Amino acid sequence: MTTTAESSRTEAALILERCDDLAGLSSQPERLERVHLSPEHKAANALVAQWMEEAGLSTWQDAAGNQCGRREGTEPGLPALLLGSHIDTVPDAGRYDGMLGVLLAIAVANRLRDVPLPFALEVVAFSDEEGTRFGTALLGSRALAGTWNDDWWNLTDADGITLFEAFQDFGLDPARLPGAFRRPEQLVGYLEAHIEQGPILDDADRRLAVVTSIAGARRFALTITGHAGHAGTPYDRRRDALAAASELVLEIERLAKQQGVLATVGKLEVFPGGLNVIPGRVEFTLDLRAEFDTDREECLRLVHESGEEIARRRDVSLHVSELYRADAVACDLDLRAAFEAGIRSTGDASPMAFWSRAGHDGMAVSAVAPVGMLFLRCKDGVSHHPDESVTRADVAAALDAYEAAVRALAG
Ligand code: GLV
Ligand code: MN
Ligand code: MN
Repeated sequence: MTTTAESSRTEAALILERCDDLAGLSSQPERLERVHLSPEHKAANALVAQWMEEAGLSTWQDAAGNQCGRREGTEPGLPALLLGSHIDTVPDAGRYDGMLGVLLAIAVANRLRDVPLPFALEVVAFSDEEGTRFGTALLGSRALAGTWNDDWWNLTDADGITLFEAFQDFGLDPARLPGAFRRPEQLVGYLEAHIEQGPILDDADRRLAVVTSIAGARRFALTITGHAGHAGTPYDRRRDALAAASELVLEIERLAKQQGVLATVGKLEVFPGGLNVIPGRVEFTLDLRAEFDTDREECLRLVHESGEEIARRRDVSLHVSELYRADAVACDLDLRAAFEAGIRSTGDASPMAFWSRAGHDGMAVSAVAPVGMLFLRCKDGVSHHPDESVTRADVAAALDAYEAAVRALAG
């Protein structure tokens, strides 16, 4: 089938409609939240499986809850080129982060359904990239990559449900998890399309970019413990955990800016939480990310130093435990070249290329396969927010570039 500009726009419109359909599968009536191994995740897998089948793929849900689809290459059993992204969300999410990449991948498979390929083509909708439910991210892609850590079975969600129990509630058998693992010889590579989640494309008025590398990130749970007490207590008798946490949060921002690192305190809870009670304990999180792991580590060292100084001075204690770590990953040069060729085929003679500030499933998949990524513009760079927005024309261009990249790899 020859693709015309008009048919690309029609396919893009379908992709956007499907993003809307998935956005309807939410645990919250007023906002989008779909977390790992939830009933909404199950419903999303079923819908995605149906779309995969319509695109000519044979489908299965793997032992980690990833929804997979596959078509064979010129002979059965060839190593697979994986295309995909994730279908879990952050709280109060936008509808394109992850989902758009899955739907673009399905549309590429559909376009190539009758084209003989020297590799099998698989589409994967990863079950957990964000880590919203269990704090540890990339659980779906780490299962596929075989880099699973059995300690994760004891992770708990906000209701105290362990990951082990959540697997069982979803109908998965934790003992069968190794069935999801892939070996390097089974894979040709992994290509992912994703909204940029930053303003570089929008500011430059460009549609698409090739990703050079994915930022590494570490996430921590921090607890500051002081002493709760009456709001009438004089200052020299207070051990206010929230005042200490506030100081540390601002210090984290200052240090991160100074080191060229991105730091986010995204959750903070105050205990006991009475309006006339001095906070006795504060629990908060820290996400630290950077293009280069060495910069991130230096920033972390300074944050630790500063945290200890604040704790000493305010007579509180600070406890830090790590929730997640993924080091920076360079995208594969051949896969970058394929996406560059793909973008050029859309009429952009000099594709932009830059590193991803956001984390992606490719960080995990890189343990077993080379990884390449395509970014498309999102309005004002806004993401992890319901205002996430893309244009139909950009989605059409991304689809053309994605298909052309797969064709380039097919030779
Ligand atoms: C995922 O979106 C991340 O970058 O944290
Ligand atoms: Mn995200
Ligand atoms: Mn994402």
